[in-house]
Amino acid sequence: MQQITAIYGSPRLEGNTATLLRQAVAGARSQGVAVREIFLRDLKMSPCLEIYGCKRDGECAIHDDFQPVRDAILAADGIMLASPIFFYAVSAQVKVLMDRFQSQWVKKHWIEGLPMGQSRNLRKGLFLAAGATHGKKLFDGALLSVKYFFDVLDTELSDYRFFRGLDYAEDIRAHPEFQSDARQAGADLARALSAA
Ligand SMILES: Cc1cc2nc3c(=O)[nH]c(=O)nc-3n(C[C@H](O)[C@H](O)[C@H](O)COP(=O)(O)O)c2cc1C
Repeated sequence: MQQITAIYGSPRLEGNTATLLRQAVAGARSQGVAVREIFLRDLKMSPCLEIYGCKRDGECAIHDDFQPVRDAILAADGIMLASPIFFYAVSAQVKVLMDRFQSQWVKKHWIEGLPMGQSRNLRKGLFLAAGATHGKKLFDGALLSVKYFFDVLDTELSDYRFFRGLDYAEDIRAHPEFQSDARQAGADLARALSAA
């Protein structure tokens, strides 16, 4: 059975992106794909300390909740990531996770010698994001970060959905169309995985 790891990146457990990701998870499960959910805000994860202990064997030298999350991501066929937009970027929780994956980047490119810019695309990924405002460039920074993060995860950014005008945690309740869009995106990802 195909497996997806879903990463909740907001500090709010019941906020906009959490609601959207829950819908995507439900959509994926409706297609018979197993989904494991990870709530970053419940975890203890240090930021990258840039000590490059990972140069030895690709293993991050800081031992905390990063290792089980990394294992859950690398064991999956698909990734779903949801983040609110904070100052035109992903949340701090998501950024910490991204930076800790520098150890994986080191493993791939410095230890195993994979040429930079070469993608392996072993997995498929979906990115969901929400912001309060309506600016044209609201998601540009986060999208670029996620694209390169997914690259480190050997994950093709198969789909992304962005939701504007969501500020208070309950704002999402007034948007059933956003929720069904997220559910559809989750179901689509699951179908793509099952067809692969
Ligand atoms: C620290 C912080 C920074 C934010 N920065 C932005 C921003 O740059 N642009 C924006 O449109 N909304 C910004 N917001 C609003 C959130 O993106 C918005 O409330 C979002 O819906 C939160 O999603 P969540 O409920 O999943 O946490 C910010 C909120 C916080 C707490």
